[in-house]
Amino acid sequence: MAYDLLKGKRGIIFGALDSNSIAWKTAERVHEEGGKFVLTNAPIAMRMGQIKELAEKTGSEIIPADATSEEDLGNLVSESVKILGGKLDFVLHSIGMSVNVRKGRAYTDQNYDFSHKGWDISALSFHRVMQTLFKADAMNEWGSIVALTYMAAQRTFPDYNDMADNKAYLESVARSFGYFFGKEKKVRVNTISQSPTPTTAGQGVKGFDGFISYADKMSPLGNATALECADYTVTLFSDLTKKVTMQNLFHDGGFSNTGVSKEVMDHFVE
Ligand SMILES: NC(=O)c1ccc[n+]([C@@H]2O[C@H](COP(=O)([O-])OP(=O)(O)OC[C@H]3O[C@@H](n4cnc5c(N)ncnc54)[C@H](O)[C@@H]3O)[C@@H](O)[C@H]2O)c1
Repeated sequence: MAYDLLKGKRGIIFGALDSNSIAWKTAERVHEEGGKFVLTNAPIAMRMGQIKELAEKTGSEIIPADATSEEDLGNLVSESVKILGGKLDFVLHSIGMSVNVRKGRAYTDQNYDFSHKGWDISALSFHRVMQTLFKADAMNEWGSIVALTYMAAQRTFPDYNDMADNKAYLESVARSFGYFFGKEKKVRVNTISQSPTPTTAGQGVKGFDGFISYADKMSPLGNATALECADYTVTLFSDLTKKVTMQNLFHDGGFSNTGVSKEVMDHFVE
């Protein structure tokens, strides 16, 4: 069901890799709500065939940009403003990658070149995106910037590896930049802390199947899906949430505030 919540709004959506991606679902929902946007992803990560399909479906253009490159981001922002015909109202940062996870390095045996690269892509990139937008004065007043995160930033999930530290940094950047963006440009900045979701990035985490079913059984409302995350993001891009900023917003079916559930208890009771 669409409500025209984003009619007349323009933005950039990072991170749509395939149809499972949270950014993919968000692009589809933003389109349904009347928003216009540019799609972007890292040139090397981009699955051109797939993202083209999304671009055609949503009437969008694609501008490749590596989120670790200031030059790419500068070009992305200036081109997007030109293509869309004005300053931006929303930006989704849906980017994450740990080289240590990919290469199977345990948290107690990190390769720091890998750690550095993963942090650059997953965490510092959020600052870089916002600094690019801020310096170019590319956001409209009452615009909204959202990044995706996971609860391992607050509580330990051993197999989440160095992504836990990257997410803690990302959430801190949202608060810090949210202050300056709020004061100087009336733009809000938030992170959504999403349930485990079966995507390429999600499934890279060791033991993901156990992890996702545990979270589902611990959450009174069950895990939030990628589509539900897209819906929530639409509300944060809309004018209905103008004074929500510098927050880490849990979108997890109640998981973060549940000590134990009956389903999990039953598992331990004979
Ligand atoms: N899947 C989950 O369980 C889950 C849970 C909570 C939060 N998140 C977060 O959601 C976000 C989106 O991930 P997803 O689950 O949709 O997986 P995904 O694999 O579909 O998306 C990750 C995206 O990051 C992009 N990316 C990687 N390196 C990049 C670079 N250098 N520059 C630009 N883009 C780059 C990838 O190309 C990909 O599109 C991530 O921040 C992830 O950590 C995921």
